[in-house]
Amino acid sequence: MPMIAASAQQVPYSRIREIAEAAMKMDGVLKLYFGESNVPTPAYIKRAASKALEEGYTYYSENAGLPGLRRDLAAYYHRIHGVALDPQTEIVVTASGVQALHVGIRCLLNPGDEAIVLTPAWPNGAAIIRMDNAVLVEVPLRFGGARYAVDFDALRSAITPRTRLLVYTSPSNPLGWVATQEEQEGLLAFARRHDLWLVADEVYDRLYYAGPTLGSPAPSILRMATREDGVLVAQSFSKTFCMTGWRLGWLVARRDAAEKAAQLNEFIVSHATSFIQRAAQSALTDGEPELLRMLERLKDNRDFCLDALRQMPGVTVPFPDGAFYVFPRITGLTDSFAFCWKLLHDAKVGIAPGAAFGAGGEGAVRICYAAERAILEPAMERLARFLSQFSG
Ligand SMILES: Cc1ncc(COP(=O)(O)O)c(C=O)c1O
Repeated sequence: MPMIAASAQQVPYSRIREIAEAAMKMDGVLKLYFGESNVPTPAYIKRAASKALEEGYTYYSENAGLPGLRRDLAAYYHRIHGVALDPQTEIVVTASGVQALHVGIRCLLNPGDEAIVLTPAWPNGAAIIRMDNAVLVEVPLRFGGARYAVDFDALRSAITPRTRLLVYTSPSNPLGWVATQEEQEGLLAFARRHDLWLVADEVYDRLYYAGPTLGSPAPSILRMATREDGVLVAQSFSKTFCMTGWRLGWLVARRDAAEKAAQLNEFIVSHATSFIQRAAQSALTDGEPELLRMLERLKDNRDFCLDALRQMPGVTVPFPDGAFYVFPRITGLTDSFAFCWKLLHDAKVGIAPGAAFGAGGEGAVRICYAAERAILEPAMERLARFLSQFSG
């Protein structure tokens, strides 16, 4: 009998999905398990998409994406991060952030290569590495009570002659952790020293609350890397512009990797949907006012959840500077999936088990605070009640 490939077999099911699928069959669940807000895509972007359809953006585009969108992305990076990018050679438009990671990592790994992922992390990076027949090596961030930190000793111990790349996410899903400048410099130096590709998932860069003003992005690795460094950045329109269902992202990469990724795109999706690419140009140029309103709301939600969680016994919650997640650790918790399953069925609150995010994730749960307060408030009350009966 023909068999499913081992590289596909070894990709585990998403444990977030398992909770979500169960929740979707139930009524009245307060849903905080996925990483998206309930806010619809802003109207000006929807109008731009209709206009793009009318204007005839219904044909194939370049594998690397519409030249106009790439130019706007370069201008956006210059405005937001002060980084100069060549739109023709260093930017590839992709059909989502996950596709940016996918095609980017595909360009870098040979079967049997080792790839380090800093965890806890959104599981897709690890799954992509496995799908590429490479060996996943998880290195957990060190948890110091107040914040997480990159464990450079553990990274040094993880290096072997087969290590080819290092993936990290800042701001982090699920932690909300944001790499400090010293940590980014350390990661870049580490990658240079060991001849590794450094893959930075920066899809949450605009959801950052610790900058000089709200709206300032989390610092990009592109600010300190040169364009000759083996650095790839995965990006997305999903989170910043409430466009999760549109499936649009981009990759910034060293020229050789960008060229290869654009070429491989031909054999994966050819290119992102043409009229969506066109509509996204307006998100980049007109998106700041709506983004600021969303950030104010998200920051309030974060503070509300932190306050509520800190009053719950046995809960330790590091302060998150970015993204839209809190990741509380619960004393005595050894099976976060069973905990989330019971919370879902007993209290109708849907959250994600820490175990879904790899090494270092067990013992915690992820709560997405992008929902409106009418959902967050009862969810926190129900969680507090549930926890008061939880004994580990
Ligand atoms: C860390 C991280 N990277 C990438 C993505 C991909 O986003 P999308 O594929 O919707 O662009 C997500 C989505 O949840 C994420 O959390």
